[in-house]
Amino acid sequence: MAKIVGGIMTSHVPLLGRAIARNLQEDAYFKPWFDGFPAVHRWLAELKPDVALMVYNDHGLNFFLDKMPTFAVGAAPQYRNADEGWGIPVLPPFEGDVDLSWHLIESLVGDEFDITTCQEMLVDHAFTLPMAMLWPGRGAWPVRTVPVCVNTVQYPLPSAARCWKFGEAIGRALRSWKSDARVVVIGTGGLSHQLDGERAGFVNKAFDQRFMASLASDPQWATRYSNAELVEKTGTQGIELLMWLITRAALDGGATALHSNYHIPISNTAAGLMLFENP
Ligand code: DHB
Ligand code: FE
Repeated sequence: MAKIVGGIMTSHVPLLGRAIARNLQEDAYFKPWFDGFPAVHRWLAELKPDVALMVYNDHGLNFFLDKMPTFAVGAAPQYRNADEGWGIPVLPPFEGDVDLSWHLIESLVGDEFDITTCQEMLVDHAFTLPMAMLWPGRGAWPVRTVPVCVNTVQYPLPSAARCWKFGEAIGRALRSWKSDARVVVIGTGGLSHQLDGERAGFVNKAFDQRFMASLASDPQWATRYSNAELVEKTGTQGIELLMWLITRAALDGGATALHSNYHIPISNTAAGLMLFENP
């Protein structure tokens, strides 16, 4: 059976794409963020995952308000990026893992998660930037990928409690995949930020840090909150922290937090990074 080696949660701010394109990792503004990554690079080099299951939210590149699945799973041999208008370069295509995709889809539907299946799928900055930050400076990506996309854009969104169960179902699917592959689960989004409206620029350091700590000590802590409460505490886009919750739920209960970084701000966002290793 496949092995889940661990999980990585990270913010996915578009400005980071411009920083990477211009090699600004050592620039005073970006350094505190990029300095969080070498520890994760060392872990990836040691654990050598074959597949990255990417849990992220699309921002209008592949799904728009006219057709918005709550949960969608990619089942394509290859995933392409495209220009989203943020001024970030389009990245080389990502290899899929069609066998894992269809196993995941069958397992999730069997588990009563009636997801949308996508045999064609564009992947946006929430997928591509974490890949570029985790495997920097490469011509070709060293892992196959399976995108799992969650609606955080258009009301109504799945609740934190539902997202926790979805993550558990992803974990069951991965553990029952007949393969010797090593899988890393990567969740992208958050932490607190709000891009629009009266509270544009809102961040909440105290809540973010409580949330990050909870993923290690009491992983289901955030499921006590409604989405309205989470938006109040973290901002309209801070709700992307649901991706972190799904990722943690896919790991074993006893997964250990090996590394974290938190920095305010990157653009409008309180940016966070965490690494968990499965026992
Ligand atoms: C920003 C953050 C995001 O998560 C995103 O998807 C787009 C923009 C920002 O802070 O600029
Ligand atoms: Fe986002």
